[in-house]
Amino acid sequence: MADLHDQRILIIDFGGQTTQLIARRVREAGVYCEIHPWDISNEAVAQYRASGVILSGGPESVTQANSPTIPSAILTLEVPILGICYGMQAMVNQLGGEVQAQAAHSEFGYAKVELVADTPLFLDLRDERNNDTDYLDVWMSHGDRVESLPDGFERVGTSENAPMAIIANTQAQRYGIQFHPEVTHTVQGEQILKRFVLDICGCDGLWNAGNIIEDAITRIRKQVGKEEVLLGLSGGVDSSVVAAMLHEAIGDQLTCVFVDNGLLRLNEGDQVMETFAKNMGVRVIRVDAEDRFLDALAGVSDPERKRKIIGNLFVEIFEQEAAKLVNANWLAQGTIYPDVIESAASTSGSAHLIKSHHNVGGLPANMRLKLLEPLRELFKDEVRRIGVDLGLPPAMVQRHPFPGPGLGVRILGEVKKEYADILRAADAIFIEALYAHDLYDKVSQAFTVFLPVKSVGVTGDGRRYDYVVALRAVETVDFMTARAARLPWDMLDEVSRNICNSIPRISRVSYDISSKPPATIEWE
Ligand code: XMP
Repeated sequence: MADLHDQRILIIDFGGQTTQLIARRVREAGVYCEIHPWDISNEAVAQYRASGVILSGGPESVTQANSPTIPSAILTLEVPILGICYGMQAMVNQLGGEVQAQAAHSEFGYAKVELVADTPLFLDLRDERNNDTDYLDVWMSHGDRVESLPDGFERVGTSENAPMAIIANTQAQRYGIQFHPEVTHTVQGEQILKRFVLDICGCDGLWNAGNIIEDAITRIRKQVGKEEVLLGLSGGVDSSVVAAMLHEAIGDQLTCVFVDNGLLRLNEGDQVMETFAKNMGVRVIRVDAEDRFLDALAGVSDPERKRKIIGNLFVEIFEQEAAKLVNANWLAQGTIYPDVIESAASTSGSAHLIKSHHNVGGLPANMRLKLLEPLRELFKDEVRRIGVDLGLPPAMVQRHPFPGPGLGVRILGEVKKEYADILRAADAIFIEALYAHDLYDKVSQAFTVFLPVKSVGVTGDGRRYDYVVALRAVETVDFMTARAARLPWDMLDEVSRNICNSIPRISRVSYDISSKPPATIEWE
């Protein structure tokens, strides 16, 4: 196989909310791509050897002084360029056209674009045909608009508030679109991006799960040679996929350490051992550390202190186990591409850093081991697809995120084994019901929270005085904002009855309807 990375799109990020979506769509079209900040150096542009460039949208205005610009090396490349929203405006501005701030003509949301000329990027793409005219249904988000075009460009599409909604210099393979093809509301968006990377840029579409795995395995074998690798396996999606991939690549040279901290969900530890050690033959050392974690947490009720204690103890135990594996030279981690993008400092410091990278499990940076991060290039959806291809159970790779401190932050206040056991039992009932009602994959995250307060209940002839749990299920795209899922009342009723009937220490079940903000997803 030719190098899977030979054909590659360069995505220039102007700080748009949906830049990562552009990259995901390009990958889905079967082409490798990377996102780089707009202040990438001209040398880095040349070294990248792009098959094509996509300029993202962004929050700024080219009409303002010191607004972000396209690196000059990009505008002299002889490869196709597609500017989206701000990216198109920056291209127009730098090539001699004119962009104006037009607040009165801003468009947010749905718009209809009339196609007024032919260009290969849009050939035969349309949502509607009326009186011999083709229309596209698109999603816009702009205040500024292009007023006049640089030499060589023509108008291809027009909307009510954006006379230059699509522009093209077909000969030079420069395209600009005012709307966002990366969002699903733009009906032909996926086709437009596919057309750009496959037909216009001439890429072959080789980026698929099978090839990615083959390529990763070859690279891992080359990198690691005969040396041994250590992996902290949490049972979460990313570390599970790393385990499966490394096992495929280097077999017995991999040793996983799985720390059971007593704050996992019902049967989770056994499931991890069953999947990896028993079914896949991966060497997994299980460390039963429940007592150590619970002892360290005794009497502590502050959420941030609990997090610190759990994190530090995890590192301590992991290091103790690692020290026993004297031959290991590598530490594998499940870092994925969004972690890399978000922690990438911009070269000049003017494109801002979103948040610093916190790697999986918070393992120490100063370990003597070399770092192996086989998922560094991949988005979460790619990781999931690869996981299934590597033989992991689909339910495991589709699981909701689970916080590192586990039930430690879902038991409000002091953590006790009694509380953890009650919570595990209640949570299992809730999650099982979500699966049974085919709702698990429709919510982004669902779990149960233990409230260490007692409320009065009545069973049969007796009065009871027992604990309360809250159910939480949210819908979200990025976990930065979320809304409570509108779960069917009958289903919630069934879960509530099952919990109160089968767990004697719970007298009451509530459903959390708060959004984020002002609440957070977790309760602590
Ligand atoms: P919040 O509660 O901040 O949660 O709205 C957003 C997402 O982050 C997860 N979360 C954590 N993950 N360690 C983690 O690894 C933590 O301490 C932690 N706190 C929250 C939470 O489950 C949700 O997916």
